[in-house]
Parts: sequence; structure tokens; C-alpha cells
Amino acid sequence: MDFRVLKDQVDCSPAFIINTGALENNLLQLNALRQQSGCKVLYSVKALPLTKILQIAKPFVDGFSVSSLFEAQLAHKILGTDGSLHITTPGLRTDEWHDLSPILSHISFNSLTQYQRFLALGIPSTSVGLRVNPKHSFLSDERFDPCRSHSKLGVNIDDLLETNILKDIKGLHIHTAFSATDFTSLINTVDKLRHYFGHRLAQLDWINLGGGYLFKDIKNHQPLIDLINQLKQDHTLNVFIEPGKAIVDDTGYLVTTVLDIFISDGKTVAILDTSVNHHPEVFEYQRRLDLHEHQPHAKHSAILAGSSCLAGDIFGEYQFAEPLKVGDKLVFKNVGAYSLIKANRFNGYNLPTIYSYQNQQFHKEKQYHFADYCQQWSTD
Ligand SMILES: Cc1ncc(COP(=O)(O)O)c(C=O)c1O
Repeated sequence: MDFRVLKDQVDCSPAFIINTGALENNLLQLNALRQQSGCKVLYSVKALPLTKILQIAKPFVDGFSVSSLFEAQLAHKILGTDGSLHITTPGLRTDEWHDLSPILSHISFNSLTQYQRFLALGIPSTSVGLRVNPKHSFLSDERFDPCRSHSKLGVNIDDLLETNILKDIKGLHIHTAFSATDFTSLINTVDKLRHYFGHRLAQLDWINLGGGYLFKDIKNHQPLIDLINQLKQDHTLNVFIEPGKAIVDDTGYLVTTVLDIFISDGKTVAILDTSVNHHPEVFEYQRRLDLHEHQPHAKHSAILAGSSCLAGDIFGEYQFAEPLKVGDKLVFKNVGAYSLIKANRFNGYNLPTIYSYQNQQFHKEKQYHFADYCQQWSTD
């Protein structure tokens, strides 16, 4: 990404940019994994469901994984019959089943009660599985840990062992990782599944190992390739993975402009034309975003704050080579996943204008206006 060209060509602020060349590179890397291991790759649409991304991803993946009717319908619009469409969600609704079930290829029911309720409604041609909760925790923050106590995600592995259901279903789904940078936890989790279910796994057609891995930050993919090969050889399983963040995160940029600068209790505060409402995880998880202009040892520091009324609407303190001025453009990096999809118009501030970037060219894809705000909130 050429940041000087960006600041010249991107004339709307705030702006969200998707680098489609980088997106293709991420997809190519996963394609290599797919070829080396024989696994099937699904893009987990929840990370960023922009149709441009779905269209670019389609030729590189075996399908999409979704969490709801709307995601499924959008993914189906792009995919047609050219790939698999998988769903798992605790929020399956009986009133949507009629529209949802015909477009799914695979479903992993989240609980035994959900499984029974929907089985009774009839399941057309979808391959039926269960999300299993392996109860193998390795995350320190329980907000991200599907294996936490009293979890709502997946059938407890001990409860599943008590049943005979494996002979009636076609697959198992696990998703227990969060931004993992090695495969140790996955290998241990699959070991636990093999220990529990042994040869009964061979009664199944597929296993979905979920998302949650930052493949680019993992130097050695061989342990995963070996694991997939084992599952294929020992149990003749089709193996799916469904990454989201690994596909889109480092392809996304948020461009913002400084609206005001003042001193507050001895520190410089720069008010930006964006806010944590354009990347709610900054506030929810107190995440610190990468900023292109930040130079760790530079002498001018400023607290970057959002333009909303919330006192804690703050991105943090960053260092700059030159003092910031009103009108300066700044660029947050690695914000492709779980940012725009969670963005809102709190305080009436517009959503970022969306651009794509390829070959030194920025193309405006979508801009929101007052009419969109009105449409959302007007009850007339
Ligand atoms: C069931 C499931 N699959 C896949 C993903 C994608 O995870 P990530 O974007 O971290 O790769 C998630 C994320 O929450 C998920 O809940």
C-alpha cells in the first residue's frame, strides 16, 4: 500500500479501504494449505461480508460459512451452487427455517435440543452435524473462550459421549481458538476428540475445525497438514477450516482526519472524524490498533480520541515525528475483520466511505448519506 497515494486519492474521510491484492495473497496462501493438506477452506463471512470480498474469495475457497439467515442469503447470492454453505449458530430460528434450510449444504447444530427441534421440522438435503464443545480451555480471557464454564457454544463432549447420536449425523464442528498463532491447542483438542470417540469418528463424513488461526503469523503449517492428513487417513473424513480474520484483517485500513487538537491536563488530545463506534472492539476489548504514522521513539505524542460523546472513546496515545495538525490524515492498519461489520452511526456520525485498492488505484465502492441514516431511524 502506497500511503502517499492513499492520502492524495482518498478524498472522503473517514474511509475504510480494502486492499484487494493483499486479499488475493491471503487467499493464495490458504489455497496452498488446501493443496498441501487436502482440506477444504470456507471463508467465515462474519468477519466482513462485503460482496466484493465474497466475489474475490469465491474462486479460491470451497464455500462460505455463515451464522444467520441474512449472512446465508448474501453468501448464497454470490456462491449460487458453486460451493458449500455451512452454518452453526446458537440463534437458529424456527420461523426462518423454511428460507434457510434449502440454501445450506452443511449445518452444525449447537445443542442437542436445537438438533431435535429442527430435525422435527424436516431437513431437506443438508448434511447434518453437531458443534461439539471439547471442554478444553486454553484462552486466558474467558470472553473469547467457547470452552468456558456454562458455555452456550456446542454440545458438551461428555454429554455427547453419553448419546448414540454419532451414528445419525454426518459431521462434527469445533471452534475454540481466538487469533491463535500456533496449532498446539488444535492438535490437543483433536486428540481429545479421538480419545473420546475413536473409531466412531469414521462413521462421519466430515469434521469442521473452525476458524481462529492467524495463518500468516504461523511459520510452520506442517503440524496442521499432518493433523488433517491423519484425520483423512484414519477416519476418512473431509476436513474443513473456516477462517475469517486470517483472510481479511491485514487487508483493511481505516483512514481518519484530525478535526481538533487541544491540551487536556498537560497532554495533547487529537479528536478524529472516526470513533470507537467504527471499530467497537477497541472499546469492548481495549484493543490498541496499529497506526501507520506511529513512530515509537518519536517525541510528539497525542491521545487519539473519537468524535463521540463517550469519555472512553479513545484509541490510545501514539507518537509522531511532527506535531499533529488539524486536517492531518492518519491510517489505522490491520482493521479488516470485525470492524466495519460492527460499525454503527452512534451520535449520528456517518459510516466510513468504502474504497477498494489495487495497482496503486483507489476506487470508491460505497458511500453512505443522510438518506441512509434517515432510512434506518425514520418511522414514517
Ligand atoms: C464458529 C466460528 N467459525 C469461524 C470463526 C472465524 O474466526 P476467525 O475470524 O477468528 O478466523 C468464528 C469467529 O468467531 C466462529 O465463531
